[in-house]
Amino acid sequence: MLSKKMQKMLNDQINMELYSAYIYWSISAYFHSMNLDGFARWMRLQGQEEMTHAAKIFDHVLERDGTVTLAQVKGPPTSWKSPLAACQAALKHEQMNSKRFNTLMDAALSEKDHASSTFLQWFVDEQVEEEAQTSALVENVRMVKDSGGALFMLDRELGARQLGPEEGA
Ligand SMILES: [Fe+2]
Ligand SMILES: [Fe+2]
Repeated sequence: MLSKKMQKMLNDQINMELYSAYIYWSISAYFHSMNLDGFARWMRLQGQEEMTHAAKIFDHVLERDGTVTLAQVKGPPTSWKSPLAACQAALKHEQMNSKRFNTLMDAALSEKDHASSTFLQWFVDEQVEEEAQTSALVENVRMVKDSGGALFMLDRELGARQLGPEEGA
């Protein structure tokens, strides 16, 4: 059984994962409007992955006899001043999410809720990967600078992204 505090924090994180999906889809739409279809695909798949995160937490709350309370998801920004700014926004969002999972893990440990801490460990590890891949993306875009040719090549490369089977590719 989940404590009321853990239940609230996990419900808030379901909302945040859905908001993450919203941000990535919004960035995807922005890239699509710039004819950067590879970037758009990468962001769209990332958003899809965020939805699977929301679903994982949803399942955990239900499995622990908790109550899922879905709240309104706020609207994400809809435009950025450059491809670099959009990728930086994604990185900043992942960094913020990593902090949230640290806070969630702290709460689970202090309550000796081992089922939640084991569950949350997956997200702590996942955030390391997500920050690393988003940070690499930012660096790649930074290197492109004003070269349209290099941006085109990077777009082609990002467009090859696939999701793993559990991420619903
Ligand atoms: Fe996530
Ligand atoms: Fe993420």
